[in-house]
Amino acid sequence: MSTIKACIFDLDGVIVDTAVYHYKAWKRLANELGFDFTEHDNEQLKGVSRVRSLEIILQIGGITKTPAEQEELATRKNNWYVDMINQMTPAEILPGAKEFLETCRAAGIKTALGSASKNSGTILNKINMAGLFDAIIDGNHVSKAKPDPEVFLKGAEAVGVTPAECVVFEDAIAGVEAAINGGMKVVGIGSPDVLGRANLVVSGLDKMTLEKLGKL
Ligand code: BG6
Ligand code: MG
Repeated sequence: MSTIKACIFDLDGVIVDTAVYHYKAWKRLANELGFDFTEHDNEQLKGVSRVRSLEIILQIGGITKTPAEQEELATRKNNWYVDMINQMTPAEILPGAKEFLETCRAAGIKTALGSASKNSGTILNKINMAGLFDAIIDGNHVSKAKPDPEVFLKGAEAVGVTPAECVVFEDAIAGVEAAINGGMKVVGIGSPDVLGRANLVVSGLDKMTLEKLGKL
């Protein structure tokens, strides 16, 4: 029998693929500032907070901005991003994500969201999945970004379990490190080449089962 009492899920790249929307909005901002931002550059932003993402982009463009200007730029990007996520539908849920959450809940395992995004509420409402989480912890509730474990520790606390009883599902290296730093087991969603420090790596939640969870 598994000792796992809670599963904590990252949002972007695990439940939905919003990286493409983040990319379009950041690229538009970079272009307005007079430089290009490639899909390759975008990889660096996965799991990274909005503020840190902007710092990376300004560095790529070789541009310096005051804190007030940076705030305005981040807001401009976020407005474009919000316009795009407001168009999302349940069709954009990644394969197996909804089913695996339902399987966990039916087995008595608590479910929590642990995301860096401040837009997770909008996305979960658009894809009709807000009701599948016992707790939702996101960028609005934390002060320290992944790889700090704050977001996952708050998730564990919110559902009343210890870190050792949790499994985190993550697609970003910073997120895998955050789970390890929090003393939790972690399943990487993606490639073993990138997420090798996870206890198990699968290509998506459609490949996850309670049996695999029990063996962690
Ligand atoms: C993470 C994404 O989930 O959220 C990052 O992987 C993003 O790419 C971060 O920068 C913050 O998102 P938001 O919605 O608060 O700008
Ligand atoms: Mg992610």
